[in-house]
Amino acid sequence: MARLHGADPLKKHVALVGFMGAGKTTAARAVGLPIVDSDELVEEAAGKPIADIFRDDGETVFRDHEEEAIVLALGGGAVTSARVREALRDTVTVWLDVDVDTCWERVRGSDRPLAQDEAEFRRLYEERRALYAEVADVVAHDVHDVVLAAAGVHVERGALQKLGDLVPGDGPVALVSDPHVAGIHGMDAQLALGSRLAETHELPPGEEAKTLAAVDRLWQDLRLDRRGTIVALGGGCTTDAAGYAASAYLRGIAWAPVPTSLVAQVDAAIGGKTGIDLPQGKNLVGAFHWPARTIVDPALLATLPDPQRLEGMSEVVKTGLLAGEPLWELPDDELVRRCAAFKAAVCLRDPRDEGERAILNLGHTFAHALEAAAGYEGVTHGRAVALGLLAALRLSGRDIGQVEEILRPTPVRVDRERAWNAMQRDKKAVGGELRLVLLGDDGPRWNVPVPAGDVRRALDELIA
Ligand SMILES: NC(=O)c1ccc[n+]([C@@H]2O[C@H](COP(=O)([O-])OP(=O)(O)OC[C@H]3O[C@@H](n4cnc5c(N)ncnc54)[C@H](O)[C@@H]3O)[C@@H](O)[C@H]2O)c1
Ligand SMILES: [Zn+2]
Repeated sequence: MARLHGADPLKKHVALVGFMGAGKTTAARAVGLPIVDSDELVEEAAGKPIADIFRDDGETVFRDHEEEAIVLALGGGAVTSARVREALRDTVTVWLDVDVDTCWERVRGSDRPLAQDEAEFRRLYEERRALYAEVADVVAHDVHDVVLAAAGVHVERGALQKLGDLVPGDGPVALVSDPHVAGIHGMDAQLALGSRLAETHELPPGEEAKTLAAVDRLWQDLRLDRRGTIVALGGGCTTDAAGYAASAYLRGIAWAPVPTSLVAQVDAAIGGKTGIDLPQGKNLVGAFHWPARTIVDPALLATLPDPQRLEGMSEVVKTGLLAGEPLWELPDDELVRRCAAFKAAVCLRDPRDEGERAILNLGHTFAHALEAAAGYEGVTHGRAVALGLLAALRLSGRDIGQVEEILRPTPVRVDRERAWNAMQRDKKAVGGELRLVLLGDDGPRWNVPVPAGDVRRALDELIA
């Protein structure tokens, strides 16, 4: 396995290697980064289809073309070239490792020159595996794994025990957590970090962590130099605040969240948004600071209290609705992997929240209005989101049965006028319309104009 690197994953190239039929092109498209299929480039350069190059010029000539063409979505045989292997050192190389039967099923009967004889295909598959293993930084088994690798997200049961190896680089680590999580998982994290652990810090529990006073305290206590990494072990409050601290400390150092709550594993620790609150509102100060790696261990959820789990389930259901799949039905490890991958894909395509990323706010305009109307007391974000999802589904003309069954949201007791005013402030009604995220027939849409009267009715239904 090649060495793991430490820099911002967004600034690196992703090279996808794997055998014919593994699905490299499909996976590369899902990541949404500029994709170059080396096969296409080769065809373009040679001015003829690959089958013809093989027939007329032979495999050696094809490989020469391919070497020139290497960027993303490498052709299955590219790693046989030493020059290509050298070039891959500056990229995150992801091996899309798919079993030989699946690969063969996908390519048999095609005109690919190396996919004509099954026995030869299988022999070549075995031969190549060692090469892929040698160049790969990360092994992926499907498109979701590829997205996670491109985003620098590592999901693995038991990852906490391997923290020392998983935190990129080899510099010192400052471990930051909240007192509660530190008491449960802090010792395991410290042991796993071993000699890399230079200092430990605690942020106050809950939203208290997301204050300038708490972050200022952390800044003053930190001793790391620029080679150092902040590891944030905890829920979304810890990862938001510690990530923000990392974004500005010494003008920005690397950080690696180790999310421990469901909210943080499927949402807060993915996508590079960090921040703190102001008295005027939540998340008003912050930075985009993509983690060097996000290390997700679903086993940590075992100690999470039920109410906190329910908080996360609202975001899981939101993600499933956006993805068009009942992700909430999956067992924990897969549920976390799929939800994290969905958010990672959206954020990779829109890292600075200028477009598509808005879909992640499904139900949230209503939720924020309800939370504001309650003065942020007595109604949790998760419950408000669950209600907001009902409103978004109704306005999308969708059935609300499933969401009601899983999240069982009950209407909140807040002042209707206050909620409506908050909603309009949040979304500045233009020409009697508000702009919302809704679910269309072919997926989520954002900035959909909805008549104010319809929005108001939908909001009223959420209030007891
Ligand atoms: N940056 C983003 O993109 C983003 C996205 C969503 C939410 N957020 C932020 O996340 C915050 C909410 O996150 P949260 O719900 O995780 O809050 P939190 O960090 O306060 O954690 C919730 C509670 O669960 C406890 N806990 C966490 N992991 C545990 C574990 N494994 N076992 C036992 N207890 C555990 C914590 O100690 C805390 O008491 C909000 O501030 C929100 O704004 C940020
Ligand atoms: Zn939310």
